[in-house]
Amino acid sequence: MITLKTRENPRFSGRSGTRSRASENRKFPRGKDKFLREISKGIFRKGRNLYTKSAAPGTRVYDERILKKGRSEFREWDPRRSKLSVAIMKGLPKVPINEDSVVLYLGAANGTTVSHVADIAFNGRVFAVEFSPRAIMDLIFVAKDRNNIIPILESAFHPKNYKGLLEPVDLVYQDVAQKNQAEILIKNCKAFIKHGGYAMIAVKARSIDVTKKPVIVFKEVERKLRDEFHIIDKRRLEPFKKDHMFYLLKMK
Ligand SMILES: C[S@@+](CC[C@H](N)C(=O)[O-])C[C@H]1O[C@@H](n2cnc3c(N)ncnc32)[C@H](O)[C@@H]1O
Repeated sequence: MITLKTRENPRFSGRSGTRSRASENRKFPRGKDKFLREISKGIFRKGRNLYTKSAAPGTRVYDERILKKGRSEFREWDPRRSKLSVAIMKGLPKVPINEDSVVLYLGAANGTTVSHVADIAFNGRVFAVEFSPRAIMDLIFVAKDRNNIIPILESAFHPKNYKGLLEPVDLVYQDVAQKNQAEILIKNCKAFIKHGGYAMIAVKARSIDVTKKPVIVFKEVERKLRDEFHIIDKRRLEPFKKDHMFYLLKMK
Protein backbone atom coordinates (compact mmCIF):
# COMPACT_ATOMS: atom_id res chain seq x y z
CA MET A 1 0.00 0.00 0.00
CA ILE A 2 1.06 3.58 -0.57
CA THR A 3 1.52 5.09 2.88
CA LEU A 4 -0.74 8.05 3.34
CA LYS A 5 1.28 10.97 4.59
CA THR A 6 -1.44 13.59 4.42
CA ARG A 7 -2.21 16.07 7.16
CA GLU A 8 -5.03 13.73 8.22
CA ASN A 9 -2.35 11.15 8.92
CA PRO A 10 -0.14 11.63 11.98
CA ARG A 11 2.86 10.37 10.00
CA PHE A 12 2.65 13.33 7.67
CA SER A 13 5.79 15.29 8.32
CA GLY A 14 4.63 18.42 6.52
CA ARG A 15 8.12 18.51 5.04
CA SER A 16 7.43 16.96 1.67
CA GLY A 17 7.95 20.39 0.15
CA THR A 18 11.43 20.69 1.60
CA ARG A 19 12.74 17.34 0.39
CA SER A 20 16.20 17.72 -1.11
CA ARG A 21 16.55 18.01 -4.86
CA ALA A 22 18.93 15.04 -4.85
CA SER A 23 16.36 12.74 -3.28
CA GLU A 24 13.61 14.06 -5.57
CA ASN A 25 15.74 13.30 -8.59
CA ARG A 26 16.73 9.83 -7.49
CA LYS A 27 15.69 7.15 -9.94
CA PHE A 28 12.49 5.37 -9.11
CA PRO A 29 13.02 2.45 -6.79
CA ARG A 30 12.34 -0.86 -8.44
CA GLY A 31 9.05 -2.06 -6.98
CA LYS A 32 9.13 -5.28 -5.02
CA ASP A 33 5.74 -6.46 -6.22
CA LYS A 34 6.05 -9.59 -8.31
CA PHE A 35 2.30 -9.72 -8.72
CA LEU A 36 -0.21 -7.10 -9.66
CA ARG A 37 -1.13 -5.25 -6.45
CA GLU A 38 -3.66 -2.46 -5.94
CA ILE A 39 -1.77 0.48 -4.41
CA SER A 40 -4.59 3.04 -4.53
CA LYS A 41 -8.23 2.78 -5.68
CA GLY A 42 -8.06 1.42 -9.24
CA ILE A 43 -4.27 1.81 -9.55
CA PHE A 44 -2.07 -1.28 -9.65
CA ARG A 45 1.62 -1.92 -9.52
CA LYS A 46 3.79 -4.79 -10.69
CA GLY A 47 7.54 -4.41 -10.47
CA ARG A 48 8.31 -0.84 -11.41
CA ASN A 49 5.24 -0.43 -13.61
CA LEU A 50 1.84 1.07 -12.89
CA TYR A 51 -1.42 -0.12 -14.42
CA THR A 52 -5.09 0.77 -14.48
CA LYS A 53 -7.79 -1.81 -15.06
CA SER A 54 -9.12 -1.12 -18.53
CA ALA A 55 -12.69 0.13 -18.74
CA ALA A 56 -12.62 -0.76 -22.44
CA PRO A 57 -11.00 -4.19 -22.80
CA GLY A 58 -9.78 -4.97 -26.29
CA THR A 59 -8.75 -1.36 -26.99
CA ARG A 60 -5.50 0.60 -26.68
CA VAL A 61 -5.16 4.37 -26.41
CA TYR A 62 -1.44 4.98 -27.10
CA ASP A 63 0.16 1.61 -27.83
CA GLU A 64 0.43 0.87 -24.13
CA ARG A 65 1.24 -2.67 -23.05
CA ILE A 66 -1.67 -4.77 -21.80
CA LEU A 67 -1.54 -7.34 -19.02
CA LYS A 68 -4.34 -9.92 -19.10
CA LYS A 69 -5.70 -11.54 -15.94
CA GLY A 70 -8.65 -13.79 -16.62
CA ARG A 71 -11.21 -11.63 -18.39
CA SER A 72 -9.67 -8.39 -17.14
CA GLU A 73 -7.12 -6.24 -18.90
CA PHE A 74 -4.67 -3.93 -17.17
CA ARG A 75 -3.19 -1.06 -19.18
CA GLU A 76 0.39 -0.07 -18.41
CA TRP A 77 0.52 3.58 -17.36
CA ASP A 78 3.65 4.91 -19.06
CA PRO A 79 5.48 7.61 -17.03
CA ARG A 80 7.01 8.95 -20.24
CA ARG A 81 3.49 9.81 -21.39
CA SER A 82 1.74 10.89 -18.21
CA LYS A 83 2.76 13.27 -15.42
CA LEU A 84 0.25 11.72 -13.04
CA SER A 85 1.95 8.35 -13.54
CA VAL A 86 5.35 9.92 -12.72
CA ALA A 87 3.96 11.62 -9.60
CA ILE A 88 2.50 8.33 -8.34
CA MET A 89 5.72 6.45 -9.08
CA LYS A 90 7.62 9.12 -7.17
CA GLY A 91 5.46 8.54 -4.11
CA LEU A 92 2.46 10.87 -4.33
CA PRO A 93 0.84 10.05 -0.96
CA LYS A 94 -2.77 10.14 -2.11
CA VAL A 95 -4.64 9.93 -5.40
CA PRO A 96 -8.07 11.42 -4.66
CA ILE A 97 -9.92 9.46 -7.35
CA ASN A 98 -12.17 6.45 -6.88
CA GLU A 99 -14.66 4.54 -9.03
CA ASP A 100 -17.42 7.16 -8.53
CA SER A 101 -15.34 10.32 -8.84
CA VAL A 102 -16.45 13.22 -10.98
CA VAL A 103 -13.34 14.86 -12.43
CA LEU A 104 -12.78 18.05 -14.39
CA TYR A 105 -9.63 17.56 -16.47
CA LEU A 106 -8.12 20.71 -18.01
CA GLY A 107 -5.65 20.25 -20.86
CA ALA A 108 -6.88 16.82 -21.91
CA ALA A 109 -4.74 16.71 -25.09
CA ASN A 110 -5.33 13.44 -26.97
CA GLY A 111 -6.55 11.59 -23.92
CA THR A 112 -3.54 9.66 -22.67
CA THR A 113 -3.84 10.51 -18.97
CA VAL A 114 -7.59 11.12 -19.28
CA SER A 115 -8.03 7.47 -20.32
CA HIS A 116 -6.30 6.22 -17.16
CA VAL A 117 -8.28 8.59 -14.95
CA ALA A 118 -11.45 7.33 -16.66
CA ASP A 119 -10.39 3.72 -15.99
CA ILE A 120 -10.13 4.54 -12.27
CA ALA A 121 -13.40 6.55 -12.18
CA PHE A 122 -15.29 3.96 -14.22
CA ASN A 123 -18.61 4.70 -12.47
CA GLY A 124 -18.06 8.46 -12.45
CA ARG A 125 -17.43 11.05 -15.13
CA VAL A 126 -14.41 12.83 -16.57
CA PHE A 127 -15.17 16.21 -18.14
CA ALA A 128 -12.17 16.69 -20.44
CA VAL A 129 -11.49 20.25 -21.60
CA GLU A 130 -9.09 20.87 -24.49
CA PHE A 131 -8.84 23.85 -26.83
CA SER A 132 -6.91 22.24 -29.70
CA PRO A 133 -9.31 20.94 -32.37
CA ARG A 134 -6.63 18.47 -33.54
CA ALA A 135 -6.17 16.97 -30.07
CA ILE A 136 -9.89 16.80 -29.37
CA MET A 137 -10.40 14.63 -32.45
CA ASP A 138 -8.16 11.97 -30.87
CA LEU A 139 -9.91 12.47 -27.54
CA ILE A 140 -13.28 11.83 -29.16
CA PHE A 141 -11.97 8.45 -30.39
CA VAL A 142 -10.87 7.61 -26.84
CA ALA A 143 -14.31 8.67 -25.52
CA LYS A 144 -16.05 6.48 -28.10
CA ASP A 145 -14.92 3.41 -26.11
CA ARG A 146 -15.43 4.94 -22.65
CA ASN A 147 -18.80 6.46 -21.98
CA ASN A 148 -17.63 8.28 -18.83
CA ILE A 149 -15.42 10.72 -20.79
CA ILE A 150 -17.11 13.94 -21.93
CA PRO A 151 -14.82 15.86 -24.33
CA ILE A 152 -15.29 19.66 -24.31
CA LEU A 153 -13.67 21.84 -26.99
CA GLU A 154 -13.12 25.05 -25.03
CA SER A 155 -10.46 27.16 -23.41
CA ALA A 156 -10.00 26.37 -19.73
CA PHE A 157 -9.50 30.08 -19.24
CA HIS A 158 -13.24 30.64 -19.77
CA PRO A 159 -15.10 28.26 -17.44
CA LYS A 160 -18.34 30.16 -17.95
CA ASN A 161 -18.38 28.79 -21.55
CA TYR A 162 -18.82 25.22 -20.28
CA LYS A 163 -20.61 25.89 -17.00
CA GLY A 164 -23.89 24.59 -18.46
CA LEU A 165 -22.31 21.19 -19.26
CA LEU A 166 -20.83 20.45 -15.87
CA GLU A 167 -21.94 19.22 -12.47
CA PRO A 168 -20.03 19.83 -9.21
CA VAL A 169 -16.76 17.90 -9.29
CA ASP A 170 -14.66 16.02 -6.70
CA LEU A 171 -11.35 16.82 -8.38
CA VAL A 172 -9.96 19.37 -10.81
CA TYR A 173 -6.86 18.11 -12.65
CA GLN A 174 -4.88 20.63 -14.62
CA ASP A 175 -2.01 20.26 -17.09
CA VAL A 176 -2.26 23.11 -19.59
CA ALA A 177 1.41 24.26 -19.64
CA GLN A 178 0.45 27.93 -19.80
CA LYS A 179 1.82 31.12 -18.23
CA ASN A 180 -1.32 31.63 -16.14
CA GLN A 181 -1.69 28.03 -14.92
CA ALA A 182 -2.45 28.94 -11.30
CA GLU A 183 -5.14 31.47 -12.26
CA ILE A 184 -6.81 28.95 -14.61
CA LEU A 185 -6.89 26.34 -11.85
CA ILE A 186 -8.31 28.74 -9.26
CA LYS A 187 -11.03 30.02 -11.63
CA ASN A 188 -12.20 26.48 -12.39
CA CYS A 189 -12.07 25.31 -8.80
CA LYS A 190 -14.11 28.28 -7.65
CA ALA A 191 -16.69 27.51 -10.33
CA PHE A 192 -16.98 23.72 -10.06
CA ILE A 193 -15.35 22.04 -7.08
CA LYS A 194 -17.43 20.45 -4.30
CA HIS A 195 -16.82 21.46 -0.70
CA GLY A 196 -13.65 19.73 0.48
CA GLY A 197 -12.66 18.84 -3.08
CA TYR A 198 -9.14 18.26 -4.35
CA ALA A 199 -7.04 19.64 -7.17
CA MET A 200 -3.92 18.40 -8.90
CA ILE A 201 -1.73 20.55 -11.12
CA ALA A 202 1.42 19.83 -13.12
CA VAL A 203 3.34 23.10 -13.31
CA LYS A 204 5.83 23.53 -16.13
CA ALA A 205 8.28 26.24 -15.04
CA ARG A 206 9.48 27.04 -18.55
CA SER A 207 5.97 27.77 -19.80
CA ILE A 208 5.58 30.35 -17.06
CA ASP A 209 8.95 32.13 -17.30
CA VAL A 210 12.00 30.80 -19.18
CA THR A 211 14.20 33.55 -17.76
CA LYS A 212 13.76 32.50 -14.11
CA LYS A 213 15.12 29.48 -12.29
CA PRO A 214 12.38 26.82 -11.92
CA VAL A 215 12.60 26.98 -8.11
CA ILE A 216 11.76 30.69 -8.20
CA VAL A 217 8.84 30.07 -10.55
CA PHE A 218 7.51 27.30 -8.28
CA LYS A 219 7.72 29.62 -5.24
CA GLU A 220 5.69 32.27 -7.07
CA VAL A 221 3.08 29.73 -8.15
CA GLU A 222 2.84 28.40 -4.60
CA ARG A 223 2.22 31.87 -3.23
CA LYS A 224 -0.86 32.12 -5.47
CA LEU A 225 -2.04 28.59 -4.72
CA ARG A 226 -1.79 29.05 -0.95
CA ASP A 227 -4.50 31.74 -1.04
CA GLU A 228 -7.07 29.13 -2.06
CA PHE A 229 -5.63 25.68 -1.26
CA HIS A 230 -3.79 23.66 1.32
CA ILE A 231 -0.73 22.21 -0.40
CA ILE A 232 -0.84 18.56 0.65
CA ASP A 233 2.11 17.41 -1.39
CA LYS A 234 4.49 18.43 -4.14
CA ARG A 235 6.88 16.39 -6.28
CA ARG A 236 9.48 17.24 -8.91
CA LEU A 237 8.89 15.03 -11.95
CA GLU A 238 12.51 14.43 -13.00
CA PRO A 239 13.87 12.36 -14.64
CA PHE A 240 10.85 12.02 -16.92
CA LYS A 241 9.67 15.63 -17.00
CA LYS A 242 12.30 18.32 -16.61
CA ASP A 243 11.47 21.45 -14.60
CA HIS A 244 7.98 20.31 -13.67
CA MET A 245 6.41 20.32 -10.22
CA PHE A 246 3.30 18.30 -9.44
CA TYR A 247 1.01 19.58 -6.66
CA LEU A 248 -1.74 17.82 -4.73
CA LEU A 249 -4.07 20.46 -3.28
CA LYS A 250 -7.15 20.62 -1.13
CA MET A 251 -9.52 23.55 -1.43
CA LYS A 252 -9.67 25.72 1.71
C1 LIG B 1 1.05 19.09 -21.72
S1 LIG B 1 -0.37 18.86 -22.70
C2 LIG B 1 -1.43 17.86 -21.72
C3 LIG B 1 -1.10 16.39 -21.71
C4 LIG B 1 -2.19 15.58 -21.05
N1 LIG B 1 -2.58 16.16 -19.78
C5 LIG B 1 -1.79 14.14 -20.80
O1 LIG B 1 -1.17 13.83 -19.79
O2 LIG B 1 -2.15 13.29 -21.62
C6 LIG B 1 -1.17 20.41 -22.55
C7 LIG B 1 -2.48 20.48 -23.29
O3 LIG B 1 -3.20 21.60 -22.80
C8 LIG B 1 -3.87 22.20 -23.86
N2 LIG B 1 -4.17 23.58 -23.45
C9 LIG B 1 -3.30 24.60 -23.26
N3 LIG B 1 -3.95 25.70 -22.85
C10 LIG B 1 -5.27 25.38 -22.78
C11 LIG B 1 -6.43 26.08 -22.41
N4 LIG B 1 -6.38 27.37 -22.03
N5 LIG B 1 -7.61 25.44 -22.47
C12 LIG B 1 -7.68 24.14 -22.84
N6 LIG B 1 -6.61 23.42 -23.20
C13 LIG B 1 -5.41 24.02 -23.16
C14 LIG B 1 -2.91 22.07 -25.04
O4 LIG B 1 -3.58 22.17 -26.28
C15 LIG B 1 -2.33 20.69 -24.79
O5 LIG B 1 -3.06 19.71 -25.48
